[in-house]
Amino acid sequence: SPQNNGKLKDSMLKILVIGDLATGKTSFIKRYVHDFFSQTYRATIGVDFALKILHLDDKSIVRVQLWDVAGQENIINMTRVFYNGALAAFIVFDVTRTYTLESVAKWKADLDSKVQLPDGSPVPCILLGNKCDQQREGIVNNPAKMDEYCKEHGFTAWYEISAKENINIQEAANALISKILQND
Ligand code: GTP
Ligand code: MG
Repeated sequence: SPQNNGKLKDSMLKILVIGDLATGKTSFIKRYVHDFFSQTYRATIGVDFALKILHLDDKSIVRVQLWDVAGQENIINMTRVFYNGALAAFIVFDVTRTYTLESVAKWKADLDSKVQLPDGSPVPCILLGNKCDQQREGIVNNPAKMDEYCKEHGFTAWYEISAKENINIQEAANALISKILQND
């Protein structure tokens, strides 16, 4: 089989998706992996998984394993075990609720304190402002401020996305995957 000829490069990328309750982490993943969206909110309990297989070319396969971590209040006590072995992360906030962006620094600090690349550097992390199909609130209206915020907190980049309207989902995912593969 082509898997056994020794020439196929097959890599597994563990990527975390974290952020406050109901910001749209599950919706982002469902849109990216299954091109599906639901208006109905069902809170994730603990952690969920999704896998997307990318054929970069005829010699390389990338298995993108997305870890969908619940945003529930007490989850931070359990994140160490979830973060183990992760190569990158998305932190998701809701552009309609400023306080979910205020929590981003807490999520980033938790991430950086619990997982690093083999050389000790922080894992690449992209900030996602979801629900951009709706009215934005706060500094997300100011791209220059957002750029500054990202630089200050060590984010690779930030994107406004909409899981509902399928805006910037592929672009954000591709940017993080490229960043991981470029480090490797
Ligand atoms: P937890 O698992 O509880 O942490 O929530 P979550 O971050 O996984 O959020 P989830 O994806 O379940 O979405 C929460 C609610 O927001 C649901 O009712 C979704 O339908 C809605 N939602 C998600 N993405 C979007 C979006 O892009 N636009 C709009 N308008 N609503 C969205
Ligand atoms: Mg969820």
